[in-house]
Amino acid sequence: MEKVNLEYISIIGHEMRTPLTSIRGYLSMILEGDMGDISPEARKALNHCYDSSVRLIKLVNDVLVLSKIENGKMEYYPSKIEITEFLKSVYNDIFIEAEEKKIDVKIEIDKNLKQKNIFYDENRLKQVFINLISNALKFTDLGGEVIIKASLKGNNVIFEIIDNGVGIAKEELEKIFEKFSQASCDLQRLNNCGLGIGLALVKNILKDFKSQINVKSEVGKGSNFYFELNLA
Ligand SMILES: Nc1ncnc2c1ncn2[C@@H]1O[C@H](COP(=O)(O)OP(=O)(O)OP(=O)(O)O)[C@@H](O)[C@H]1O
Ligand SMILES: [Mg+2]
Repeated sequence: MEKVNLEYISIIGHEMRTPLTSIRGYLSMILEGDMGDISPEARKALNHCYDSSVRLIKLVNDVLVLSKIENGKMEYYPSKIEITEFLKSVYNDIFIEAEEKKIDVKIEIDKNLKQKNIFYDENRLKQVFINLISNALKFTDLGGEVIIKASLKGNNVIFEIIDNGVGIAKEELEKIFEKFSQASCDLQRLNNCGLGIGLALVKNILKDFKSQINVKSEVGKGSNFYFELNLA
């Protein structure tokens, strides 16, 4: 699709973000019981609404950031990030989605990385992880496993997001990083496909971090998305 389309979506995105955030906020208040008791049936329905609003907000944010990067308007605000704490906060953002799919998410951090820091824009780095992990969850069957791994390599840290899901065919591997490209979405059991911009965003953010996203994958076995960042 053309660049102009992304710009168009990003204008709508700006308009959508405020009402969406308000919907999510009210839903969360209702779910927390601030407005009185709710029946288990209502809770289930409201949980679905809450999840959908979270998904939409993620989509809107992804489009807005990608559009900014493409137009050279992105500004980064690096700060010191403690690796272990950061990965814990990423886990907090995704564990509900993982629990719903009964996928076991493990975090494996090299013991030499304890209390080590990196220096990047935390919000954008989180967007990288959330996109890679939500892909891993989306393309892995119920009961699968996702590993978030950090290992030390010289003065760098290698992050890996590993799943044992559907995997990606060799001929698709290069295309998946282009926006609006989706490989496994024609598989009937995966009705959960998005817009196809997540990996384009990941690639662009990491490029601005002077890094690069890589992938190893085998159909039917799973995928491993990995990248390196400098230690602070
Ligand atoms: N962990 C994975 N396992 C299998 N296929 C994957 C995985 N991650 C990405 N893909 C493939 O790459 C395509 C592009 O991924 P991308 O994150 O850009 O788009 P999406 O997840 O479909 O939509 P969006 O992220 O915009 O909601 C996916 O549609 C899927 O075909
Ligand atoms: Mg995605």
